[in-house]
Amino acid sequence: MNVQKIKNGLVIDHIRAGTGLRIFNWLKLDRAQFSVALIMNVSSNHLGKKDIIKIDNVIDIDYSILGFIDPDITVNVVEDEFVTRKITLTLPEKVSNIIRCKNPRCITSSEQGIAHEFHLVDRKRSEYACVYCDELYRAGIGEFL
Ligand code: CTP
Ligand code: ZN
Repeated sequence: MNVQKIKNGLVIDHIRAGTGLRIFNWLKLDRAQFSVALIMNVSSNHLGKKDIIKIDNVIDIDYSILGFIDPDITVNVVEDEFVTRKITLTLPEKVSNIIRCKNPRCITSSEQGIAHEFHLVDRKRSEYACVYCDELYRAGIGEFL
């Protein structure tokens, strides 16, 4: 499938097939006034199938949250139609107010106004632990606040 190249903006590539739409919505691209494209189920050498998002506008993205959603994503910065930078993502060491601790006995469940904070405990397994009660979470878009 052929999709036009963008002029100035971002190409979010190597998105695990099936999560592109949720990332598209999380970035509020459904309300964009500039050109955007969501391409789903593109054949990829190392992923089998992948999704791609093209944004023909310079926008700010929280790369730490994007890395939490999917650390295998590559963000291509495009300037004057050329890729000038490839940003590779990683799982962030800490996430604050992205996922919620589900332990009913956790202080964040019984008291309001406390930040939901997790820290990375196992990078290979994408596993995070609540800093207050050690409840474990697997990173990914399914675990969003
Ligand atoms: N791209 C685009 N518009 C441009 C330049 C690039 O939409 N003006 C897109 C390409 O279609 C591709 C992505 O940005 O989907 C990355 O481009 P490029 O680095 O040229 O491709 P690859 O070398 O295949 O990338 P990688 O090795 O990271 O898979
Ligand atoms: Zn907790």
